[in-house]
Parts: sequence; C-alpha cells; structure tokens
Amino acid sequence: MSDVNEAQFWQDLYDTENSPWDMGHETPVFKRLAESGDFAPGKMIVLGAGSGYDAHLFARHGFDVTAVDFADTAVEKMRSLQDSENLIQIIQGDIFELPEELNGQFDYLLEYTCYCAIHPSRRDEYAQLAYRLLKPNAQWIALSFPIGRREGGPPYVVQPDRVIERMTEHGFNLLHREMPQDSTEGRQGIEELLIMVRQ
Ligand SMILES: C[S@@+](CC[C@H](N)C(=O)[O-])C[C@H]1O[C@@H](n2cnc3c(N)ncnc32)[C@H](O)[C@@H]1O
Repeated sequence: MSDVNEAQFWQDLYDTENSPWDMGHETPVFKRLAESGDFAPGKMIVLGAGSGYDAHLFARHGFDVTAVDFADTAVEKMRSLQDSENLIQIIQGDIFELPEELNGQFDYLLEYTCYCAIHPSRRDEYAQLAYRLLKPNAQWIALSFPIGRREGGPPYVVQPDRVIERMTEHGFNLLHREMPQDSTEGRQGIEELLIMVRQ
C-alpha cells in the first residue's frame, strides 16, 4: 500500500469503500456550534475535508469556506454537494503545500479527523500550518478523535492533553474543552471538542 502522506493511499481507501470515517452527514457537534450563534460568520478553512459535509454546513450558516483535500473522490463528492447559493472554495492539494497567499487569511480552522489521518511525525508541522493559516485571535475548532489506546493508524490515536500542549507550544491558547454529549453514535467518549485561539 502507498504512503499515508500520499493522495494515492487515501484514494485507495475510497476506491475500496474502506472509508468508515465518512458518516454520510454533517457532524452533530459542529451543527450545534454552527446553529449556536456563538461564532460570527467569517473565513473558515477545513483541512482534509473528505466529503465536505461540515464545510457545507458552515457555508449554509454564512461562513466563507475553503475546503482542502488531495483525494479525487473527496473532491468529487464535495463538488457534488455544492449548492449554487452557498458555494465553498475547494482546493485539491496537499495541506502541507498550501500556497503562502493563504497565510493569515482565516478566522477559523475546522478540524475533524485530519489530525489523526496525517502521520504522527507531522503533528508539529500541522500545528505550524494552523498557525500560519489563521489570523491573530482566530480559532482552531477541533473535534479531537480518536482518544484512547490504539496501535498504528490511520486513524492515529490522539491524547487531547498532548494536543493542547502541542498547539500551545505553537502559539495557541485554550479557550474551551468539552466531552460532547451529542457525538455521533459510536464516537461518544472517544472525542473531545477543543477550541483554541491563535495568539
Ligand atoms: C479520515 S478522512 C476525514 C475526512 C473528513 N474530515 C471527515 O471527517 O469525514 C481524512 C481525509 O484527509 C485527507 N488527507 C489526508 N492527508 C492529507 C493531506 N496531507 N493533504 C490533503 N488531504 C489529506 C484524505 O484524503 C481524507 O479525505
């Protein structure tokens, strides 16, 4: 099998319908946040956006959303969900090779199962990427999954305390953490909502 850092690895999973992360609908926790009115619509980037349900969710709530994924199937699915009134910008490419023009452009970075999809050796690089994409005082909104014990990956296990520590080392401050009650069935107790603010 190809390397987890390469689009072909993920495309092979999509081609063999081995994509258990794809719930076929938006994430309930994010639906709650989008509907809460606590987050002023602004520019949002979604990394490793997959089929794009959450990207489209926030676009419907008035956010200007850019979604990034390098797998053909993910991009095709996102395009098929496009709604003429709430268009999202789709970038097909590697998140680690996003152009410098995007630096400091975003008010929010939405994170769900991208952090656990990249190789753990790249987590510092991910934190640096989040820092460079976001504006000062912008928010990293992350549903940190999967918590617990697990060998190998993807998904590579996450420890929220360690995630917070790492993001803090890279210029973020913790605003909110919560074990959601409204996680999708089967994910309760193994994901934690983290909201961190870029300095
Ligand atoms: C586990 S899936 C999660 C998809 C989506 N976030 C969700 O929750 O349904 C990970 C996605 O990230 C994409 N991905 C992984 N590494 C990537 C990278 N370096 N650049 C761009 N996309 C990447 C994969 O193609 C895949 O669609």
